[in-house]
Amino acid sequence: MSSSTVITNIATLVTNDPSLGDNSPLGLVQDAAVVIDGDRVVWTGESSKAPATDNRVDAGGRAVLPGFVDSHSHLVFAGDRTQEFNARMSGRSYTAGGIRTTVAATRAASDAELEANLTRYLDEALRQGTTTFETKSGYGLTVEDESRALRLAARHTDEVTYLGAHIVSPDYADDPAAYVALVTGEMLDACAPHARWIDVFCEKGAFDGDQARAILTAGKAKGLHPRIHANQLSHGPGVQLAVELDAASADHCTHLTDADVDALANSATVATLLPGAEFSTRAEWPDARRLLDAGVTVALSTDCNPGSSFTSSLPFCIALAVRDMRMTPDEAVWSATAGGAAALRRTDIGRLTPGALADLTLLDAPSHVHLAYRPGVPLVSGVWRRGVRVV
Ligand code: NIG
Ligand code: FE
Repeated sequence: MSSSTVITNIATLVTNDPSLGDNSPLGLVQDAAVVIDGDRVVWTGESSKAPATDNRVDAGGRAVLPGFVDSHSHLVFAGDRTQEFNARMSGRSYTAGGIRTTVAATRAASDAELEANLTRYLDEALRQGTTTFETKSGYGLTVEDESRALRLAARHTDEVTYLGAHIVSPDYADDPAAYVALVTGEMLDACAPHARWIDVFCEKGAFDGDQARAILTAGKAKGLHPRIHANQLSHGPGVQLAVELDAASADHCTHLTDADVDALANSATVATLLPGAEFSTRAEWPDARRLLDAGVTVALSTDCNPGSSFTSSLPFCIALAVRDMRMTPDEAVWSATAGGAAALRRTDIGRLTPGALADLTLLDAPSHVHLAYRPGVPLVSGVWRRGVRVV
């Protein structure tokens, strides 16, 4: 039997529903309360009007916001790439080639080792307020290793993405067409039952536009929905392809033409920006302002992976997005919550409104602005996931 809990004395509540709050996109309510029943939010409003409940939690005049939605990560892997990072910080540039190092380590790892790693990064993310995460395969690149990665991921999240097309497997270096045939054939058959999404790294050194189209179209035919690593390292066809195929998200979007921005603005495809990657590869920042001003829906995610962005922290990404991508604190918080939900085509997360899942983050600060204002400070002091307090 479920019992209800009111979290009261919230100085600033982010609902992400303009009609519930101050009419801004964040739907802010001051001196607020939230009532949880079972795994759902059942009431949101001013503290003084909160209905009676079985239990009461005093937020102590601090801020509450929806749990972060990390809609892009690569958490099934073994080993790390410290040397590669060190070399980059001495001037070397990032390329897709480093992925091969993690592929070798991941293939050699046991299931138990991979799952222990995955759990460790998930716990890390949860302590920083992430209550929903997407994660991908992509470091196996054989039928067995890709399907095993997805099987392990599916034990921890519903948002599982098949990324057999991360790079051409080193085993097929001389015959990329045969690898594309494998990814769209036997590997897809083995992986589709464990995944919701299909992704491809559309980039020089990975897959070109025609290969990416063939891979995503094959995935769609098997019931998987597309998302794309697009325009990360250079201009390319990825964003246009994402829009053409109604991908839920085009991820990275660092190098965009005006036509790319227009295409995104006139589509249901979210632009997911991953500032941890630009930070860790010392690359040019994506221009979030340009996208937002054009009316594009923007999500912020970590891209947590051992090569280009080894952070599980959305608070860190929010701070980067505000400082270096010209987002306001309000926009960055929206993008890491409601934006992530949009990138996963979910309406039950990323907002604190009646009927939504009770995923909440309590900050040790009076408002959400402190996430950018106090970078690097561990401000997350409470997390509820599906109605249960876990931090
Ligand atoms: O999103 N760009 C492709 N994939 C990852 C990096 C993977 C790696 O370097 O291991 C990314 O940045
Ligand atoms: Fe990625």
